[in-house]
Amino acid sequence: MLKVLEHPLITHKLTQMRRKECGTKDFRANLDEIAGLMAYEISRDLPLRTVDIETPVSPYTTKELAKDIVLVPILRAGLGMVNGIANLIPTVKIAHIGLYRDEETLEPHTYFEKYPKNVKDAVVMIVDPMLATGGSANAAIDMVKKQGAKNIRLVCLVGAPEGVKAVEEAHPEVDIYLAALDEKLNEHGYIVPGLGDAGDRIFGTK
Ligand code: URA
Repeated sequence: MLKVLEHPLITHKLTQMRRKECGTKDFRANLDEIAGLMAYEISRDLPLRTVDIETPVSPYTTKELAKDIVLVPILRAGLGMVNGIANLIPTVKIAHIGLYRDEETLEPHTYFEKYPKNVKDAVVMIVDPMLATGGSANAAIDMVKKQGAKNIRLVCLVGAPEGVKAVEEAHPEVDIYLAALDEKLNEHGYIVPGLGDAGDRIFGTK
């Protein structure tokens, strides 16, 4: 399932990020805020369990989150979406997957992997701002599947149709969440209109 999260605040903030004159500080702040707004939708169907608590006034039977939630940023640009989501999901644990894209073949290569203990039974949310060819997303999904993850969702800021198709074909059961679905990839593997290199813009490199 592909879900494009349309909301005026998301659209406005993404427009600021797309502007080539948007500086590093504003770019990071807008990404953080959009990730927070997306957290509401990507967590909408999280399972709850019944718990008995005491309020200051009386005993009360209520509900709380039932499953562990593991956020998996694909390094390095995925880091830019972590705080916005983690601040809103209190029980979240954070894994890391390090992938880099070969500039010529555009193929992903792994250089780092670290997971919390509970990946197998957790709701796993892989985050990466740009879903371009889908190569990194598919590699990350393969990696968390190898850890036993069964409930996986992919959360990106901007996607290209090519990347969405690649993930849907390789992992049809993974739900994909985007803030915007753009037009296409260019010959260098950049999303058009896109926002350029998300990692460079987040960290001020280049
Ligand atoms: N990665 C980026 O950072 N930007 C793109 O447009 C595509 C991949």
